[in-house]
Amino acid sequence: MAVDCFIVHPGDKLHGKTHIPGDKSISHRTVFFGALALGRTHVRGWLPAGDTEASLRAIQTLGVPVTRVSDTELIIDGGTMRAPSDTLDLVNAGTGIRLLTGIMVGQPYPSILDGSSQLRRRPMNRIITPLKQMGADINSLNGYAPLSVRPAQLRGITYHMPMASGQVKSAILLAGLFADGETVVIQPGPARDHTERMLMALGADIKVDGDTVTVTPGATFKPLDFTVPGDISSAAFPLVAALIVPGSDITLEHINLNPTRTGILDVLREMGADIKVKETGLAAGEPVGTIHVKHSALKGVRVGGEVVVRMIDEFPIFMVAALFADGETIVRDAGELRVKETDRIAVMVKELSKLGASITETEDGFYLLGGQKLMGATADGHDDHRISMSMVVAGLGAKGATTVLDAKCAGDSFPGYAATMQSLGADIVVKDITE
Ligand code: S3P
Repeated sequence: MAVDCFIVHPGDKLHGKTHIPGDKSISHRTVFFGALALGRTHVRGWLPAGDTEASLRAIQTLGVPVTRVSDTELIIDGGTMRAPSDTLDLVNAGTGIRLLTGIMVGQPYPSILDGSSQLRRRPMNRIITPLKQMGADINSLNGYAPLSVRPAQLRGITYHMPMASGQVKSAILLAGLFADGETVVIQPGPARDHTERMLMALGADIKVDGDTVTVTPGATFKPLDFTVPGDISSAAFPLVAALIVPGSDITLEHINLNPTRTGILDVLREMGADIKVKETGLAAGEPVGTIHVKHSALKGVRVGGEVVVRMIDEFPIFMVAALFADGETIVRDAGELRVKETDRIAVMVKELSKLGASITETEDGFYLLGGQKLMGATADGHDDHRISMSMVVAGLGAKGATTVLDAKCAGDSFPGYAATMQSLGADIVVKDITE
C-alpha cells in the first residue's frame, strides 16, 4: 500500500517572509454565512483545505451557486438555499458539521449531515442537547453523526454552555437566527468569537456583554466583500519551528490577531520567546498584522484557566515547544483536547515518545521536563492535520531523520504546508512510500 509521508532532516536555520493560508474558522463561516446572506458574497484569501472544501460542497448540495474565481477567491450567490439534493458530507470537519446543523434545524426541509469515520467518533450531544431545548428535531446515532434533521419551529432559550466552545456557541446562535424569540448563550470562557463578529458585519442583531451573547432573529443579511486573514493556528507551526531551530528569524504576514485566538503568543512570550507583533489593520472585522519571530531560549511554563480556550488548537505544537524549553511545563484544564480530531493529549504523547520524549499525561493536560534531546524516528499523523504538522516541527529539532506517515492530512487546514516550510529553509521531502 502506498503511504504519503514527510521526511524531515534537521538542518539550517529558518529565515525569510511568508504568507499563511486563510483562517479555517473564518473560511467555514464565510461559506455558511454567504449562503444565508441575500446577494453576492465575494471573498479572497479563502482557505482551500480539506475541511473548508467539505463545507463549500455542502452549500452547493443545498443549491447555492458558487463561482470559483481561483482556489482562494469565491463568489457565493446567497439567499438561494433549498432542500439538499444529497447527504451533507462534512468529511473530517467538526466545525462544518456543528455549524451547519445549527442552520439546518431552522430550515423548512429535512437534511442529513454526516462525515468520515473520524467525524462519526466526535461527540454531537454538545450541540444536540441545546438545539433540542430550542425545539429542534434531530436524530443521531446515540449522540454521534449521521444527524438527521427535520423541520421544526424553534424557540429562543437561555443556555449556559458547559464547555467554552466556539462551535457549540455558533450552532446555538445560528439556530437562534431562526427562532421565535431571543436566544442567550452564556459561555464559561472566551471561546473564539468569529461568528459574532461576522454576523454583526452581515447586519444580524447580536449583542455581546462579557461572556454573554444574545441573538434576536428578524434581520436580513447583507453579503460581505472581504479578504480572509492568515490562520494563526497554521502560523503556529513555522513560528515554533523558528523558536527551536538555532539562528532562525522569520516573518509571517497578514495573520489574524483576534484576541480569542492569540493565547499561543501570550504563552510563548511568557516562556521567553522573541515574538514581535505589529497590527496592520482589520479584515472581516478581525485585527490582522505581522508576526516576527526569532530563535529563543525558552523556559517551561504553567498553562491553565482562561488562556486554554484561546490556544486550544495549538497544544500539539505547544507540546513540541515545551520539550525544547528549559525546566518544567504543566498544562491543566485542557480536557477538550481529548475530543478533537484525535485525543490530542494521548496521541502527541505517543508519537513524541517514538522520538525519545518523556511526557506524562494527566486527565486534562500533561507535564514534562524540558531540555530533552529528541532522536529522529518514524511517527504517525493519525489522519489529524495538527498532529502531522507538529511531528514535522519536532523532527526539525531532532537528531537524524524523522519520517511522518499519513502526513497529507496537513492539507485539512494548511494546504502547501511542506512547501511553505521549505520556502523558509526547512529540509522536508514529500514522498509516497510503499509499505
Ligand atoms: C472552532 C472551534 C474550536 C476549534 C476548532 C474550530 C471553530 O472547537 O478547536 O478547530 O471554528 O469554531 P471547539 O468549539 O470544539 O472548541
